[in-house]
Amino acid sequence: MRLMLAPMEGVIDHTMRELLSELGGMDRCVTEFVRVSEALLPARVFRRLCPELGSGGKTASGVPVYLQLLGGQPTPMAENAARAAELGAPGIDLNFGCPAKTVNRSDGGSIILREPQRVHDITAAVRAAVPENIPVTVKIRLGFEDQSTFLDVVQGIAEANATELTIHARTKKHGYRAPAYWEEIARARSTVSLPIIANGEIWSPGDALRCRQQSQCQDLMLGRGALCRPDLPRLVRAALDGTTIDSLNWTDILPLLRKLLSLNLANYDASYVAGPIKQWLVYLRYYYPQAAVMFESIKRERDPERIEAILEQCSQSTHFSKRVA
Ligand SMILES: Cc1cc2nc3c(=O)[nH]c(=O)nc-3n(C[C@H](O)[C@H](O)[C@H](O)COP(=O)(O)O)c2cc1C
Repeated sequence: MRLMLAPMEGVIDHTMRELLSELGGMDRCVTEFVRVSEALLPARVFRRLCPELGSGGKTASGVPVYLQLLGGQPTPMAENAARAAELGAPGIDLNFGCPAKTVNRSDGGSIILREPQRVHDITAAVRAAVPENIPVTVKIRLGFEDQSTFLDVVQGIAEANATELTIHARTKKHGYRAPAYWEEIARARSTVSLPIIANGEIWSPGDALRCRQQSQCQDLMLGRGALCRPDLPRLVRAALDGTTIDSLNWTDILPLLRKLLSLNLANYDASYVAGPIKQWLVYLRYYYPQAAVMFESIKRERDPERIEAILEQCSQSTHFSKRVA
C-alpha cells in the first residue's frame, strides 16, 4: 500500500509538506496547482509553489513531490509540463478535479470532465512532452454535474498512457460533502489496468480499510484527514498490519505548531505567518478539542511573537496538554 498526501491549495504548501512528511508513513506529496493558461510560465512560478525543486524534488525527509498543473489546453499544458520536468519535478500531476467556479469558468479543473476527449488529449500531450522516466499522473472526480462521462474519462486517461490515476470519489456537484462513493472507484478499476489511487473522506484507519475494500484499490490519498490527524498515515499502516500504535496526543502536536510557525517565519513575510497556524488549528480541532480552545485564544493575533508566546504558554499549561482519549 502507498499513501499519498493530497494537494490542497492555500493549505498544504511546502512548509506543511515538510512538517507532515517528517512524521512518516507518506510515500508522495503533490503541490498546490500551478494555473496554466496560454503562456509558458517562468521558472520562478514553479519554484515558488514547489521549492523542493531545489532539493531533488523531495521534502526534507525524502518524500517525492509531484508538481500539479491545471489547465484546459493540450499545448500549453504540455509545454509547461516539460518545463516543470526540466526544473527537476519527479512527476507531473494533472488536475481535473478542482470545483472552484472561478477556475471552472476559465476552462480549468473539473469542468473538463464533461469532455473525455479533451481530458485524453491533454494527458496524451503532456505524456508525450515529458521524458519517459518521469511519471505523469492524473487526478479526477467522478464527474462534473453527474457521472455520465466517468468511465469514458478513465478510459481516455488510460489510453493516453498516464502512469497513475487518483480518483476523488465525488462529483463536482457533491463538493466536499460526505459520503464519498468509494464503490464507484471499483467500477473504474474493473475497466482499466492503470493503477488507481482512491481518495475522499478518509478520516481514520477504519475509513482507510473500508475505502480499500470498497474501491478495490491498494493505494490511498489522504487530504483533510491528514491535517486533522497528522499521524493518520502511520496509523493506517499499523491498522493494515493488524497492529495498533499510540496516536499523537496534544502535547505531541504543540511542538509541531511551533515548528510550522518557525518554518513559515523562515519562508514568508512575518505578516503572513499567523494565517497558516489558525488554519491548521481549524482542522486539528476536529480531533483535538484543545485546538479549538487555542484557536479562540489566538484568533485575533497577528504578531508572530505573540503567537509564539501563546504556544509556549500552552505547552506548559496542563489545561492544554490534557491527553485526548
Ligand atoms: C482547501 C482545499 C484545497 C484543495 N486544493 C486542491 C488542489 O490544489 N489540487 C487538487 O487536485 N485537489 C485539491 N483539493 C482536493 C483534495 O486534494 C482532495 O481530493 C479532497 O479534499 C478529498 O479528499 P479528503 O476527503 O481526504 O479531503 C483541495 C481540497 C481542499 C479542501
